[in-house]
Amino acid sequence: MSTLRDRRHRHDRFFERARRADFAARSVYKLEEIQERHRLLGPRARVLDLGCRPGSWLEYCARLVGPGGALVGLDRTPLDRVIPGARIVVGDVLEVTPEVLRGDLAAFDVVLSDMAPDTSGIRSLDQARSAALFGRALDLALALLASGGHFVGKLFQGPDWQRLLGRVRAEFDRMVVEKPAASRKASIEQYVVGIGRRP
Ligand SMILES: C[S@@+](CC[C@H](N)C(=O)[O-])C[C@H]1O[C@@H](n2cnc3c(N)ncnc32)[C@H](O)[C@@H]1O
Repeated sequence: MSTLRDRRHRHDRFFERARRADFAARSVYKLEEIQERHRLLGPRARVLDLGCRPGSWLEYCARLVGPGGALVGLDRTPLDRVIPGARIVVGDVLEVTPEVLRGDLAAFDVVLSDMAPDTSGIRSLDQARSAALFGRALDLALALLASGGHFVGKLFQGPDWQRLLGRVRAEFDRMVVEKPAASRKASIEQYVVGIGRRP
């Protein structure tokens, strides 16, 4: 049973803003902050969102890319909301092929991953699972991004942190790490941003 403190924690200012703006989740404000800093998304962009449920990142992307853009979302659980204009693939990121995600698009301009493992409470296990999801998201991004494209991936800080940051640094012109205000301070999640995929 959730306590009053849990509920207060969940129903914070970001939760209320998201509810009023009809976004599916408060996590939209993490992507919004990253977008306002780095301007990764623009009109007509082709965006792949890995771990897209319940759909707030796709809803936000839809507003930015407009009718000329393309949105593809993947999640292992079907979405409860319809995101107009988005193609949703239901499946596990560890099993899906790049071809299924690409569909009839030549490439993506932006690949996002907000995937998180089901936390076990065992820190080392959660860190290893987060690293595996992030590594897979990065592999897919490298297979599917157009030259000059961008990557955003959620990663828990842990033993694989420096190795994975090094991979992003090697493949993109710039690498930055963001901890948006909407990301809870107690959470070890961070967002690793790769800007400008090298040819
Ligand atoms: C924090 S939520 C994403 C929230 C989303 N960015 C939004 O704003 O609506 C993380 C999602 O990652 C998905 N996920 C976790 N592991 C996955 C996997 N192996 N394959 C596909 N999706 C996965 C979960 O099902 C969950 O819906």
